[in-house]
Amino acid sequence: MPYIFLAIMVQKKKSAKKNKSAKKNKASTDKQILDEIIRVDHAGEYGATRIYDGQIAIFGKNSKIGKTIQHMADQEQEHIEKFNELIIEKRVRPTALLPLWNVAGFALGAGTALMGEKAAMACTVAVEKVIGEHYREQQELLEDDEKELRKTIAKFEKDELEHHDIGLEHDAEKAPGYKVMTKVIEIGCKTAIAISKKI
Ligand SMILES: [Fe+2]
Ligand SMILES: [Fe+2]
Repeated sequence: MPYIFLAIMVQKKKSAKKNKSAKKNKASTDKQILDEIIRVDHAGEYGATRIYDGQIAIFGKNSKIGKTIQHMADQEQEHIEKFNELIIEKRVRPTALLPLWNVAGFALGAGTALMGEKAAMACTVAVEKVIGEHYREQQELLEDDEKELRKTIAKFEKDELEHHDIGLEHDAEKAPGYKVMTKVIEIGCKTAIAISKKI
């Protein structure tokens, strides 16, 4: 009797091991997840270029703050160009809401810039915090068949966190109504992310 019990346990352990290694070999990213990642990142990077366009339109690119923003805008340009390539390469439909993010991004950038330099930087802190976290989560969803994309996203995550820190270094937290403003912008960004994945 104890022998039978032991034999069953050994068998169970063996099949559990088998399942585990089968799972390990199956390193391919779900196509729907991949599509959503590329669609939403393309939308987000596009929105980011529009936010900084809006801020530069108000401050001018030759002002001191304008130059700081231009540095971030240049990196956003690199990001969107990469996702423009990926959307074609991986045959992903872009979000239908690009025209909305075009206007909303610019309005957010220009609107916060009109409130002052610190408010513009508070906008950067809020947006880049959400995008940075989002990029972190996405790296977990990509399997080894998408190593390249994972690397790209890791690099962009680093850039976004640099932007976030530039915002803090430029007194974002001293903007009037910082806490409420950043919360509202964060919620807006998260909503835009949720919609752009699907639509
Ligand atoms: Fe970006
Ligand atoms: Fe950024």
